[in-house]
Amino acid sequence: MQKNAHPHRDCNGKIAVVHNGIIENYQELKKELEKDDCGFKSQTDSEVIPNLISKFYKGDLKKALIKAMKRLKGSYALGVISSDEPERLLVARSDSPLIIGLGKGENFIASDVPAILKHTKKVIYLENKQLAVIKKDRVNVFDLKGKEVSPKIDTISYDVEAAKKFGFKDFMLKEIYEQPRVVSKILSQWMSLEGNIRVRDLDLNKDFLKEIEQIVIVACGTAFHAGLVGKYIFESLVRLPVWVDFASEFRYRKPIIKKNTLLIAISQSGETADTLAAVQEAKKSKIKVISVCNVLGSSLIRESDINLNTYAGPEISVASTKAYTAQLMTLYLLALYLARLKQNLNEDKLKKAISSLEKVARGQKKILARSRDIKRIARRHLHFGAFLYLGRGINFPNALEGALKLKELSYIPAEGYAAGEMKHGPIALIDEYRAVVCIANDSPVYDKMLSNIQEGLARKGKIIAIASEGNEEIKNYVKEAIFIPKIEPLFSPLFAIIPLQLLAYYIACLKGYDVDKPRNLAKSVTVE
Ligand code: AGP
Repeated sequence: MQKNAHPHRDCNGKIAVVHNGIIENYQELKKELEKDDCGFKSQTDSEVIPNLISKFYKGDLKKALIKAMKRLKGSYALGVISSDEPERLLVARSDSPLIIGLGKGENFIASDVPAILKHTKKVIYLENKQLAVIKKDRVNVFDLKGKEVSPKIDTISYDVEAAKKFGFKDFMLKEIYEQPRVVSKILSQWMSLEGNIRVRDLDLNKDFLKEIEQIVIVACGTAFHAGLVGKYIFESLVRLPVWVDFASEFRYRKPIIKKNTLLIAISQSGETADTLAAVQEAKKSKIKVISVCNVLGSSLIRESDINLNTYAGPEISVASTKAYTAQLMTLYLLALYLARLKQNLNEDKLKKAISSLEKVARGQKKILARSRDIKRIARRHLHFGAFLYLGRGINFPNALEGALKLKELSYIPAEGYAAGEMKHGPIALIDEYRAVVCIANDSPVYDKMLSNIQEGLARKGKIIAIASEGNEEIKNYVKEAIFIPKIEPLFSPLFAIIPLQLLAYYIACLKGYDVDKPRNLAKSVTVE
């Protein structure tokens, strides 16, 4: 394994490289370099990089790096040093994120901000196909032609504290408990003192936004589930057709995109390769892009026309929780803004919607206060070999998200399903060995959900119900119920998701797993 560890050196042992990403044409390059008697020690794609730089090195590392960049295909964030130029560290990027931290008499490189935050808050987000020459007291940035460019220097708004656990056992629990504060912060950022929705980036684009006729949402993973909730939100409030797609599918399907389409790209990190590629694909149709993103300076923000920051603060745990509810809040407020703009929502309905959103923080706190009950339910269902999550309407995506949380944290097979689909196959799965989580809050589809619960019980399924406070009826059917505060059904996903996050968290903890760093997963999937 050691021989595959970074840094990798060229065969003369003079140039060393660390690499994050995937070199897609490394086989071809490796063959070419082997013809020059270059012996490889590892099985990695990364090892071609120092050898390619070495091939072009004629005493100037920057020139050699530029030549190598022109040959490399795929994604990379590179750190490069040479024994011939010990005072210089060179970096370069293509798709994989890379930041430069500017210190006093020292400089830093990393993939993401939390890694360097204790040293400095001043960062340069290197742009795609750029490189930089870093010395301890200066940083020069260049484009692929070798022309110097003056980089934007950002100052990180949050401090080391925000990236700490604050006495919580792990980041995930801290981030679950941060959600009420995050939703309040988002409201305060969007609402003017007079109670109107005020977002500068949207106000500057009113004319364009008034003309949109359909919305396309692209994202991956949890962000995709937020996008699915977004479909219900926009179609209900803005009355426009919405199409939600996995970014990884959208990017290759040669999608038909009509003019007057708005693309919304949702991403916590702003560095997810598939989401960035989907945005590139959409921009070929010359449509405008709104990003719903949690990391300022990220690639997605730079690729978008309008940026909606989700203000969740750094989300360290691989499993996304507060970023998800922050994405939902942002989508609700964007939908209300667009509905007002298109005159689909009168003043009274807007005020009602805003007052529902103003209840969310308090309601989430009430659910969090029930975490011990949820932990007890987790303990009683620890041994189940498989879970089914069922939801309807705007809470169907939450069934998918609850299942994703459980499988990515506890490695238990879990499937989310639209409850109405049960008779079309999945009901065959239910028996006494399967736990069935049913999102059955008060809503126009509550009775349908109750029927699903009865069908599950008839097949000896172990039901865990998420129900609204005051629902005494459901206690006649299920032993395990987690109650959430009553709220207008349209906004209920902001409550229903909290018990699902906690259930997954406690099951994984009780199984002894590392909830912040689940196996095989990365916080940001910057390669395909
Ligand atoms: C969610 O818990 C996972 N960490 C993963 O599905 C994640 O949501 C997905 O990779 C998208 O990441 P992004 O929001 O940074 O684009």
